[in-house]
Amino acid sequence: MYNYVEDGDSKTTAYVEGDQDKYEQFMARIEAGEKIEADDWMPDEYRQSLIKLISMHGISEIMGALPEKEWVPKAPTLKRKLGIMAKVQDEMGHGQLLLRVAEDLMKPYERTREDLMDDLLNGELKFHNVFHMPTKTWADAGLVGWLVDGAAIISQTNMLDASYGPYQRALQRICQEEVFHAQHGEAIIMALAEGTEHQREILQEALNRWWPALLMFFGPASKETTGSSKQDVMIKYKIRKSTNEELRQAFLDKYLPRVFSLGLTVPDKTVHYDKAEEKWIYQQPDWDEFKQIIRNKGPRSKERLRLREIAYENNRWVRQALAPETVEV
Ligand SMILES: [Fe+2]
Ligand SMILES: [Fe+2]
Repeated sequence: MYNYVEDGDSKTTAYVEGDQDKYEQFMARIEAGEKIEADDWMPDEYRQSLIKLISMHGISEIMGALPEKEWVPKAPTLKRKLGIMAKVQDEMGHGQLLLRVAEDLMKPYERTREDLMDDLLNGELKFHNVFHMPTKTWADAGLVGWLVDGAAIISQTNMLDASYGPYQRALQRICQEEVFHAQHGEAIIMALAEGTEHQREILQEALNRWWPALLMFFGPASKETTGSSKQDVMIKYKIRKSTNEELRQAFLDKYLPRVFSLGLTVPDKTVHYDKAEEKWIYQQPDWDEFKQIIRNKGPRSKERLRLREIAYENNRWVRQALAPETVEV
């Protein structure tokens, strides 16, 4: 899954001196809706924006499997266990697919997937804010599928026509699987919403806890908030179409009526649809807290990174065995 989150200022420039002709041809291809491939010339700003986006997306898929994996042994029935296990496997597959796309883009810098894993462990590569959060009850497992995968679908369909071919093709497949994840989550939510008083209680409690993280999912609204214009750079290069706030509004449009129709509430009394402005009004989450969370100071950041590190170390022998130089010909 996941979305590009703004953090800090972009230091890249569109092209270096002498490359103006190449840059103009490149932009003409982008404007014409052509797909850019891995070996094509591309401006450094485009390459670096893609590396940042796709490596964060890929690593978030892998980090996202960790909170859900916690519920595989505790799922209430065999059917639910199989469902959530398949979802965890899908997310790991998404991560692998995307990290390969990022690795191709990093070739000019002689950087590899191993470097990305080092970046993750030393805090340079961030993973999505929602995966720093705890999953306390079975309702969290349902909510992650229903609303976090639901948000991911909105964020990723925004890039389904991305100008970079390898990413666009990976997203086509990923989005199809994400739809299954959202349906799986929705089925859990429906069972809880139609269940006992206790089941409804844990569902409402989970939604109350997840609400700020869900609002944060799409990132801050504008560069006035972030001091960054990375959203604009991605829109200029037709990597994405909509801004963070447009995506958040699309999410609220789709899910708030469903939330209310189940008799659930959100922990924000100001939430309402403003017909004149044609948008949802809501209380801003604490964006300073958001910055802390993605800097690995969230409630579960350290534990999840440690788990990843242990898995990475334990599986080192597999990577070594598969390395091309060890294959005899
Ligand atoms: Fe995914
Ligand atoms: Fe998913």
